[in-house]
Amino acid sequence: MPKFIVRLAFALAACSLAGPLQAAGPAAGTPAAGTVEDRISVCLTCHGVKGQSETPDTPSLGGQPENYLLTQMFTFREKLRTSELMNEMAKTLSDDDLRTFSGIIAKLPPPQPVTTPPADTARMERAKTLLASARCTTCHQANLAGQDQIPRISAQREDYLLKSLRAYKSGERTGYDPAMIEVMRTLTDENIVDLAHSLSRTP
Ligand code: HEC
Ligand code: HEC
Repeated sequence: MPKFIVRLAFALAACSLAGPLQAAGPAAGTPAAGTVEDRISVCLTCHGVKGQSETPDTPSLGGQPENYLLTQMFTFREKLRTSELMNEMAKTLSDDDLRTFSGIIAKLPPPQPVTTPPADTARMERAKTLLASARCTTCHQANLAGQDQIPRISAQREDYLLKSLRAYKSGERTGYDPAMIEVMRTLTDENIVDLAHSLSRTP
């Protein structure tokens, strides 16, 4: 069993044990209880304590612009962005919590690029052309590190990149800022596969 599931199962067990004793307050082992470090450690079981996620379909958060993190947490809490898991995680967080969590998480180191399987030259070349023609770098910056409400997309997990680009394309993820819906209109699924391959391997 992957380590994060074991830790999560432990947190959940601790939380149901604590339940009857403190039925009125927030349960231990959830993002709503304990010190700030305890609460953020619940988040980082999935997202990676060093900013790099080892969990399938779950984004690395290290080095994300603080404002992007804040906005996305807000959209999860308000159910403007749908993810059963994250809607549940965010629902008990106050505005101050969102600010505190975003500030701390943004300072985690940016993730390291994927190295295996190695980069496929043809796909990297096709993605380079798309990054220029679709003007990805005008918004996400030349180094793809993002800024303000615009996310870092370099060295993100490949599975999560595929999932998020497809979700913009299908209209499932409307976004706080609708820019990506417009961008994805002209791109095909083959383009998405090339972009996810390349971005996840770009430092
Ligand atoms: C059980 C695993 C799990 C836990 C615990 C968890 N997350 Fe997440 N988180 C996810 C997944 C999966 C997604 C991707 C959702 C999607 O596909 O839209 C996500 C997405 C996010 C995003 C959006 C990132 C982006 O690049 O758009 C942020 C920000 C985030 N989580 C912050 C947090 C914070 C803060 C906590 C703690 C309060 C937390 N997460 C707890 C699994 C988790
Ligand atoms: C006009 C500005 C703009 C352009 C051009 C643009 N983006 Fe974005 N992108 C954004 C914004 C703003 C967001 C956050 C939207 C939201 O709230 O969901 C975003 C989100 C994303 C995400 C989601 C990241 C995450 O952590 O969830 C990916 C991946 C992405 N963009 C890739 C691309 C690629 C690849 C291109 C070029 C094909 C591109 N973007 C072009 C502005 C832009």
